Amino acid sequence: MLGSRPLRVACIGAGYVGGPTMAVIASKTSPDAVQIQVLDISEERIAAWNSDRLPLYEPGLTELVFGSRGRNLHFSTAIEDGIKWADLIFVAVNTPTKECGIGAGSAADLTYVELAARQIAAAADTPKIVVEKSTVPIRTAEALGAILEACGRTSFEILSNPEFLAEGTAVRDLCEPDRVLIGGNLETDSGRRAVETLTELYAHWVPRERILATNVWSSELSKLVANAFLAQRVSSINSISALCELSGAEIDEVARAVGLDARIGPHFLKCSVGFGGSCFQKDILNLVYLCESFGLNTVADYWRSVIAINDWQKQRFTARILHGLYNTATNKKIAILGFAFKKDTGDTRESAAIDVCGNLLQECAKLSIYDPKVPAEQIWTDLTRRCRRTRDELAHYVTLAESAEEAAMNSHAIVILTEWDEFRTLDYAKVYKGMCRPAFLFDGRSICDMKALSQIGFVCYAIGSPVDSRIRLR
Ligand code: UDX
Ligand code: ADP
Repeated sequence: MLGSRPLRVACIGAGYVGGPTMAVIASKTSPDAVQIQVLDISEERIAAWNSDRLPLYEPGLTELVFGSRGRNLHFSTAIEDGIKWADLIFVAVNTPTKECGIGAGSAADLTYVELAARQIAAAADTPKIVVEKSTVPIRTAEALGAILEACGRTSFEILSNPEFLAEGTAVRDLCEPDRVLIGGNLETDSGRRAVETLTELYAHWVPRERILATNVWSSELSKLVANAFLAQRVSSINSISALCELSGAEIDEVARAVGLDARIGPHFLKCSVGFGGSCFQKDILNLVYLCESFGLNTVADYWRSVIAINDWQKQRFTARILHGLYNTATNKKIAILGFAFKKDTGDTRESAAIDVCGNLLQECAKLSIYDPKVPAEQIWTDLTRRCRRTRDELAHYVTLAESAEEAAMNSHAIVILTEWDEFRTLDYAKVYKGMCRPAFLFDGRSICDMKALSQIGFVCYAIGSPVDSRIRLR
């Protein structure tokens, strides 16, 4: 509440961050206390948020949106009106890695953040609290503040409130966050008041001791560092998966034993074909760029190696498939199970599947791809971009299947790239009957029971397990 009326919250950007975050805030507050407008330039996206079919898949999200939409949660393209109306404005626009110019390939592209700042400056005629939600390089809030101050007609208080939700578990992560970080100017009264306003919003459902107030730079940097640490754990276990394959140890046993040490903990130690998602690589590259700009080249190299291991893991996995298939994949049908960067999401940004499929297509393999949630159009977009070939050219080599069984029919090999639960429980004995011989299975997520599959007759390879002697190593 702000005096006698509800606090008015706007969110610029109705994507993976803005949409679920606002849906959870709406579900945890009453219409008398908080009203929310989610704003986006994309008419299509807003139409989807207002329809029965939301623009993104996230477990539990549909129910939340349906429960609050029209009540205290509204989706709109009227950005200017939304800005004027709001007391507090979240900026949750996309921040991809720069594709050209200085810092290309590593620095964050802040075009969308800057545009949003200019929109706010142009429209706002009463004081606003502007909350930076997008993952941004440290000191973006400063740039935001400078633009708002130079172009705006009113006063602005800038806060940094990084998002720690993971896709697939976004609703749970938002409902029960480990912590909420609010960076603000704690030296001034208006800064402290802004921090308190945002704290009160979260305090509707988050215990106050989990809401941390820091200075803006600490908050911005913490987000990059948290993601870099998580990614580093995945790269660490993936590096050891290669050692396990050649030395006879089982990576899952090693991860369990190591993770039981309370100082290390069990999370993010599941080996894989490589991490993906919109954040890990981008945030590490941001960190690298930041270190380099301060002349900390050794630190930059350290973090860059996390990405190097990730790239190597994807290459290594593709090479295993190729060597296993007697060094030729030409015209062999390969069933690709999973295209999303992890289970329970339809998102493919930086998915390892894009690189593995791209590499196999270079070998002229014929891919039959199945993913339960990724839209067909997205797979075509990702592959045409990765392979730099038209859809017509690729159509000779790529088909999209409606089920795992259909993808595997008449194939030489199954390749598991996303750990969807349905791939654990597939009737592999039935699938095996429809495949060419020898029937190979390459498990890039280490989710299948290798012994059971071998008994069925598969020649199996699971990332991080000792390699079957029937799989050629080179
Ligand atoms: C991540 C952070 O977890 C989240 O806090 C931040 O806000 C956004 O970035 P997200 O990218 O959605 O979230 O998913 P996450 O669960 O972190 O997984 C990232 C990638 O790492 C996925 O490709 C996943 O398959 C992989 N991964 C994760 C592993 O390979 N092994 C693991 O043990 C954990
Ligand atoms: P994230 O994963 O960071 O949420 P997404 O790409 O899923 O990123 O979502 C970002 C959203 O922000 C997109 O829907 C995009 O249309 C929207 N967007 C980008 N710039 C603006 C802007 N200036 N005004 C309104 N919406 C914007």
